[in-house]
Amino acid sequence: MAAGNRKLIIGLDFGTTFSGVAYCETDANGSARDVNQIQLVTNWPGQGQSNNEKVPSRISYGAPPKHETKWGNLITPKTKSVHALMKLRLDERTKKSKQLQMLLAFLTGNIEGLSLDDMDSDGEDGPPEYPGKDAVDIVADYLTHIREHVWTNLQSQYGEALLDSLDKEVVVTVPAVWSERAKDQTLKAVTRAKFPATKLMLVTEPEAAAIYALKEMQEGARRNEIQTGDNFVLCDAGGGTVDLISYNITQTSPVFKIEEAAIGSGDKCGATYVDKEFLSWLEKWIGSDAYKLIPPEKTRHGSQLMNSFEMLKQHFKGDDDGDMEIRLPRECGIEDDEDLDIDDQVLTLDAAQMRDIFDPCINRTLELIDGQIASILRAGRVKPKMVIVVGGFGRNEYLFKKVTEYCNERGILARQPTFPWSAVSRGAVCRGLEGPMTGLVAVRLARKHYGTPISVPYRAGIHNAVDMYTDEFTGTKYAKGQMRWMVEKGERLPESNPKKASIECCCTFKKSDDREFGAVLVGCDEEVAPKRYADDSAYVICRVRADLSKVPESKFTRARSGLGAEEFLIAEFKLEATFEGGNIDWKFIFDGKEYGSVSVSYDK
Ligand SMILES: Nc1ncnc2c1ncn2[C@@H]1O[C@H](COP(=O)(O)OP(=O)(O)OP(=O)(O)O)[C@@H](O)[C@H]1O
Ligand SMILES: [Mg+2]
Repeated sequence: MAAGNRKLIIGLDFGTTFSGVAYCETDANGSARDVNQIQLVTNWPGQGQSNNEKVPSRISYGAPPKHETKWGNLITPKTKSVHALMKLRLDERTKKSKQLQMLLAFLTGNIEGLSLDDMDSDGEDGPPEYPGKDAVDIVADYLTHIREHVWTNLQSQYGEALLDSLDKEVVVTVPAVWSERAKDQTLKAVTRAKFPATKLMLVTEPEAAAIYALKEMQEGARRNEIQTGDNFVLCDAGGGTVDLISYNITQTSPVFKIEEAAIGSGDKCGATYVDKEFLSWLEKWIGSDAYKLIPPEKTRHGSQLMNSFEMLKQHFKGDDDGDMEIRLPRECGIEDDEDLDIDDQVLTLDAAQMRDIFDPCINRTLELIDGQIASILRAGRVKPKMVIVVGGFGRNEYLFKKVTEYCNERGILARQPTFPWSAVSRGAVCRGLEGPMTGLVAVRLARKHYGTPISVPYRAGIHNAVDMYTDEFTGTKYAKGQMRWMVEKGERLPESNPKKASIECCCTFKKSDDREFGAVLVGCDEEVAPKRYADDSAYVICRVRADLSKVPESKFTRARSGLGAEEFLIAEFKLEATFEGGNIDWKFIFDGKEYGSVSVSYDK
């Protein structure tokens, strides 16, 4: 059967705690569909919870000798060696710096000031190292199970022949704060999971959620709620993080267009931190001595204790609507204690206690919303009309009630789309349906400064003497590591006219030297970028290298540093970066034209 120009777009939201997949095919002209035509995979294998919009992001390779792999809902409280929160491992930079902090703190005995919360990814949920597998391999194994399940579904829905004939594109979502390396790691894991797609693209999670929520509003009965000039804040409250992003509606017809109104923000205060808060509360409630008797595996995610807390958490509305009961592990030694509300090992919590457990994360979320509103106002824009809340934590009634209260006090609307929990994967599909340059989001803001260190002729009194060096061929004095910033933090990056910036490179080398040269792309998250690369706030994003070996030697300039000295070559070329859709594309330009390929590598 001929599929015409029909395409199948698959949106993959690999979340910290849960992952989701949505899909939709275009019509025969390749045109997009309405958001309500997007389908969601919900028949995840295993005994699941009643709502299967997403599947747990967990895998276990099992115990020897059988090594039976289990994933998602197939993992039970008894399953050993569970890899959970593996997404955080794709961002090595955070992990390394935390480990370094801990190591230093332990070595120096200075444990004070070390936040337990900061150690979460290496705590009870930190995946045990698995021999021969790195973070990308483990994520790839998990995503392979996802892909197999999704493809079985697609095959039965479309039939093998039609499915084969459709052009398939996978849109993968990543946190807005992901480093370039973490994005690269995610792409590697998806590639290793062998999604049979013709195209793979990335979009940030809050952007995807915003696209879905807005499209749904625009296509539905609420279309009059959004008008040109309006600003809105999207808050994606998930398992690991709460991410925020703000947009301004620049046009509603003939096509709908929005642009980022403030630099997004976020923090680690998602629903797993409510779980942590519960455990800290429990320790205080029953006392440290009793708490310490509970074996660690009985308080880890997925244990009976945490599963029963999960149920209470998900249904919590903020008020007294029935007793909330949790069976305590026998090991704590408390069977009955009237003062502690424990009867026959069952602890009963009231709404006030539950609110105390929720409130640190909710208050932080409200602070983040407040911060986004302040940034929008600082940018000279009008007060946002609406806060849209999505995500697993975002669908919680108590959280939404608190956000609504906050908004009501300020004359702002609080909204949730029809499917807040699967908003990200649905939005990824919307993004894929749009096509690369015809997106709803017309302008994004640079999240950091981007630049490159260069050498400039040394000038005493202006440059720092430690940066001075003498070129071995020409004998000229240079100051190295002087930053040339190409993109400023907060700079507008329009989609229709992508920002291009080039690094001018000049290399001197001997005929016998190898011909690979490059530059480093440096980032800085501070408001004001430093002048020198040696400054603490500047860090390497990636190394970009051009292979000059294919350039005929006659194209280089020849020179000698003195009579009789060995001849050397000078090559001048450009590494051109295009900032497009949150990604950077590289080109190697020599003698005015594109020449060969550029390789990009990320440090660990
Ligand atoms: N109704 C609910 N009330 C409170 N928490 C909930 C509810 N439903 C799901 N959660 C929690 O939300 C989290 C899952 O949300 P979500 O799937 O949005 O996160 P994620 O995508 O895995 O995380 P992240 O976006 O940070 O990577 C889990 O921690 C889960 O316990
Ligand atoms: Mg998420």
